[in-house]
Parts: sequence; structure tokens; C-alpha cells
Amino acid sequence: MEVVASRDGFRKAMSAERAAGARLGLVPTMGALHEGHMSLLRAAVSGCDVVVATIFVNPLQFSSREDLARYPSNLERDLEMAQAAGVKLVFAPSLGEMYPRGEPETRVEPGPLGERLEGASRPGHFAGVATVVTKLLSLSGGCRAFFGEKDFQQLAIVRNLVEDLDLDAEIVGCPTVREPDGLACSSRNQRLAPDDRPAATVVFKALDAARASVAAGERRSTEVERTMAAVVAAEPRARLDYAVVVDPVTFESPVLLAGELRLLIATDIGPVRLIDNLGVET
Ligand code: PAJ
Repeated sequence: MEVVASRDGFRKAMSAERAAGARLGLVPTMGALHEGHMSLLRAAVSGCDVVVATIFVNPLQFSSREDLARYPSNLERDLEMAQAAGVKLVFAPSLGEMYPRGEPETRVEPGPLGERLEGASRPGHFAGVATVVTKLLSLSGGCRAFFGEKDFQQLAIVRNLVEDLDLDAEIVGCPTVREPDGLACSSRNQRLAPDDRPAATVVFKALDAARASVAAGERRSTEVERTMAAVVAAEPRARLDYAVVVDPVTFESPVLLAGELRLLIATDIGPVRLIDNLGVET
């Protein structure tokens, strides 16, 4: 496995692989790899000839300096995991390499979808994500790029930007990987205090209760949302940000549920923000 730190080296390595006829799979990450990332890498390995992972903690998408400073990192371990998954190339640039002129003046604005839900609670977050993903896809050139459904709104924003900006990438969404008790794998889980870890299961419990209510015939979205909120309210360590049911493409909330929908939830457990989601169908 090769590790490149320069944008130029990354671009050239991708071009060389493409010239040799390889179908390229790209898996962008911020490191601190876990089973969720591993599932993306495995999906890429099984569907592409050459898999490339990127590891870069992107300051543009963090709203607070503390959150950025607390973000876990362990490059050596990440490289071992990437190699074990079958990755051929890792692009791991420094901050100065990625943003040589400091904070970039040009940003990619994801539009109204970027202002809602996660975007409402974390102003500027999705512009930061959209900007770095645009840079990564533009450096990479033609590829299939793998993103997790765990970050469902991010996945939708990435699909939009690829279409809107004519980027040469096919976006592949991959299902959420969970711990045995339902908690979605996340780098942030490492920051949960031992006493808070059991409380974190409330996020998936709320989604599951809502799914059960839809399966039992509930069609009023306010009722489904109330079910999720009530499950979270019963956990004193949890503070709910939002619990909504939306159309999986437009992210509009219907009055009555019909067809495919997505349950989305964001909750703080102590100092840690947890997000999760689940698909339901009527
Ligand atoms: P990061 O949080 O490291 O996640 C990298 C990729 O792994 C994302 O596509 C995310 O959705 C996916 N992922 C995380 N947890 C997952 C889980 N439990 N199951 C399945 N997939 C999971 O998301 C980012 O980084 C950044 O915003 C990035 C896209 C790299 C831009 O900086």
C-alpha cells in the first residue's frame, strides 16, 4: 500500500491507474477508522479494481475549534486497517497541503438542504463538507466514490453536488454499520463517557420504536416523530435536537406517510452529538 501526502502525487497516481484500465474506488474519511469505514472499504474492494482511501480531518466542516481539537486521530492504526481491507493507495494530506492559501475563499454552497437539520444545528458544516468533497473528487477524477448512509443528509448533499457540478464520480451509498446493541459506529463514540455509553442506545431505540409504529399502521408523521421524541425524553442523559420523518430525496416532511421515507434523529449524550437514521416504507 502506498501513502501519498501531496495533491499532485494523488492526482498523478489516480491518472496512472486509470490509464492502466483500472476502475477506481474512492473512500473519503477523516480517519479514526472503525467498522463503518471498513464496510465502505470492503464494498469498494468488491466493486472496483483499485481502492483509494483519503484521510483528512477537514477543519472547514467543524463549527467549533474544540470539537476539531477533540477529533480522534491515529494515522498508524488507520493505515494498518486500510491495508487489511485491501486499499492500494492512501491520500493523507496535511492541512497546509489541502488548503495552501489558508481558509479557501471559494466554497461550495450546498443550498437549502445544507441549511436544514444538521445544517441548522451546525452552521457552515455542509459547505465545509461540500468544499472538501469537491476538491477530493476533482483531484481524483473518474471514480466510484463510497459514502455511508449513516450520514444520510451528507450523502444526499454529495449526490446533489456531483450532479450540479458535473463531477466525474458515481456515488455509492452504503448501509449503516451498528454495534450489537444498535448504536451506529462512529468516531465520536470513543468520546462517550463510560456512564453515557448505555444511554447512547436510546438513539437506535427511538428509530426502532418509530419503525414499529409505522409497521403497525401509523401514518401521521407528527405521531411518528412524537414516538421518537418520547423514547429520547425517557433517557435523562439524552438531549434531543431533532427527530423527524422526511422524504429521502427532498427531505420534506410529509403530513401523511406514503412510500419510502427516512427517520432522522440527532441527540446529545453528555458532550457528544450523535446522529442516526433509518429507512421505512409504508
Ligand atoms: P467520516 O465521519 O470519517 O466518515 C467517512 C465515511 O464513513 C462517510 O461516508 C460516513 O458516512 C461513513 N460512515 C461513518 N460511520 C458509518 C457507519 N456506522 N456505517 C456506515 N458508514 C459510516 O463523513 C466524513 O468523514 C466527512 O464528512 C467526509 C465525507 C470525509 C468529508 O470530510
